[in-house]
Amino acid sequence: MNIARLSRQSHRWLSIVFTLTVVLNFAWRAAVGGEPPAWVTYSPLPPLFLQLFTGLYLFALPYLGRKHAGTASP
Ligand code: HEM
Repeated sequence: MNIARLSRQSHRWLSIVFTLTVVLNFAWRAAVGGEPPAWVTYSPLPPLFLQLFTGLYLFALPYLGRKHAGTASP
């Protein structure tokens, strides 16, 4: 698996992890009420932080030349 494909797959699956942590935040506030513990409140940040880097790399891919492109260039 090349690096372009790896970053696209990571970005895809991190988006699911990120979404689940956001859902957990809303669900906690609805079900339990009040402010959840800090680990729940901040749980979306690690996957979002990783998505920033994989996302910026995906953005740069089409400009890095054909040999690095994971999919067809725009
Ligand atoms: C944090 C900053 C983020 C940046 C800079 C970013 C950037 C990008 C870029 C450049 C692409 C590739 C578009 C293309 O095909 O050319 C992409 C794809 C994608 N992004 Fe993000 N993104 C970010 C965060 C997120 C978040 C928060 C989510 C969802 C929760 C998300 C979900 C996706 C998905 C599902 C794809 C398609 C992946 C695929 O092609 O299989 N991204 N993103």
